[in-house]
Amino acid sequence: MPTRGKEVFNKIGCATCHRPSWETKEDNYWAPKITKGRQLPRYRNQKIYP
Ligand code: HEC
Repeated sequence: MPTRGKEVFNKIGCATCHRPSWETKEDNYWAPKITKGRQLPRYRNQKIYP
């Protein structure tokens, strides 16, 4: 049954961290040293299903 893995995943606690979806916030992360001053793409206030 294809949903068995999903059940186990939730049951044993994987979904505590690996949540099926959530809403992004301001997305103000900024790491000029790594990106050499360029802006990173932003995905603010969006519902995502990673
Ligand atoms: C305490 C939080 C937490 C829990 C609980 C957790 N994970 Fe993760 N998992 C992470 C994080 C954070 C990463 C990303 C690690 C990284 O990229 O360095 C990750 C990465 C992974 C990856 C990708 C590994 C890779 O090589 O890219 C898999 C697959 C995964 N988790 C499966 C599971 C499974 C299955 C469970 C339950 C048995 C589980 N995780 C429980 C936090 C968690």
